[in-house]
Amino acid sequence: MEKFVINGGKKLYGNVTISGAKNAVVAIIPAAILAEGVCIIENIPNINDVTMMLRILKGIGAEVTMINKDTVRIDSSNISTHVVPYELTKHMRASYYLIGALLGRFSKAKVAMPGGCDFGVRPIDLHLKGFEKLGAKVSVGESAMVEADAEQLEGNFIYFDTVSVGATINVMLAAVKASGLTVIENAAKEPHIVDLANFLNSMGADVRGAGTDVIKIRGVDMLHGCNYSIIPDQIEAGTYMVAAAAAGGDVTVCNVIPKHLESIMAKLIECGVQVIEGDDSVRIISTERPKKCNVKTLPHPGFPTDMQPQITTLLAIAEGTSIVSESVWDNRFKYVEQLTRMGANIRVDGKIAIVEGVEKLNAAPVKANDLRAGAAMIIAGLAAHGRTEIESIVFIDRGYENVVEKFQGLGADIERVTVPDKEEEQAV
Ligand code: EPZ
Repeated sequence: MEKFVINGGKKLYGNVTISGAKNAVVAIIPAAILAEGVCIIENIPNINDVTMMLRILKGIGAEVTMINKDTVRIDSSNISTHVVPYELTKHMRASYYLIGALLGRFSKAKVAMPGGCDFGVRPIDLHLKGFEKLGAKVSVGESAMVEADAEQLEGNFIYFDTVSVGATINVMLAAVKASGLTVIENAAKEPHIVDLANFLNSMGADVRGAGTDVIKIRGVDMLHGCNYSIIPDQIEAGTYMVAAAAAGGDVTVCNVIPKHLESIMAKLIECGVQVIEGDDSVRIISTERPKKCNVKTLPHPGFPTDMQPQITTLLAIAEGTSIVSESVWDNRFKYVEQLTRMGANIRVDGKIAIVEGVEKLNAAPVKANDLRAGAAMIIAGLAAHGRTEIESIVFIDRGYENVVEKFQGLGADIERVTVPDKEEEQAV
């Protein structure tokens, strides 16, 4: 087993370069199934979610070759099956995108439901409703296999009463070759939705309006291969920005699209942090204790839910009391228990956290409940004085490329340590 060991209390200085966006690439890799040809995808982050998604494509017959450390060549011409078994999908939450992609390519799909992060119920009813609106017969059979089948997918008008990134993406994947016009109303507007639309259009699809709440897709008969580069990861960038604010120092986050970071920059400015926006970088200068501020997570362009654990950790050492409300997920405050072990004073009441800022956090052994909670534990460890150990870091490796090296590059004292299993049981 591995853990992170952090000797905190050091300020962070220097530049950190952001990798390709996890939540874009886990949609774009399955989308390559739709092309009868070769896709070359650049700026792929080296993270476990990508490794698992590429393994799934190989498992169904795609030819997958890493051309270099961040570029993959995918040839989907010889994919011959529409069935994806549980052993391929069980660790990969986003494997539900295989349903939309296989449905879009073959008009049928049979995919085992995945696992994934553990915060609240993560239904896919909106995905399945979207497929049905496109004319597919959908059923969830034994051992959680989702089956979708259509003679010919027909474009349709689809209204999502809840904004859903996954359902928007899955319907886009299924609709690009459906006959006629599909209109998705109340669509998600995240940067990764736009990135997927651009990728699909590079393959010859006709997707308009991505990034607004109405996406229009005119079906085409065939999609060809393409060359594409993934956008920088908005949440990885935000994580380093908040880490700099919490640990203090002067950090420039490079290779970003500032427009994607507006809500995060606004919150950090509200906390009294100096934020200097460049063309493709954001500089964070933090010399004082952060000030309190209230945060409400919302679908893009609101404050991202995937930055909620990180900003709450910053507010845990802010001057004054902050209110954090989580409006996207039902149960995304589990990590607060870990922060409390470090001396944070946070009261969770349903989807609201009341954060009484404390002078400083105390280093302690903690664990990562999920991907972004793990990122929050790193931030807490960097801000706390003393030695913090973080277990269950496998979650962090799912979404943060070279996280130890990137923080070490900023002067953090953080190490990845292998522990014998028995020590693992004794901790926390
Ligand atoms: C994506 O999850 C992201 N994951 C999540 O990021 C992110 O938190 C979320 O979007 C919101 O931005 C990936 O992109 C792989 P949703 P997704 O469908 O698509 C409800 C991370 O840390 N809902 O937008 O699963 C749902 O319960 C991860 O990178 C339904 O009710 O999220 C939630 O309350 C964590 N029925 C809300 O909608 C459905 O069929 C938004 O979920 C689908 C969703």
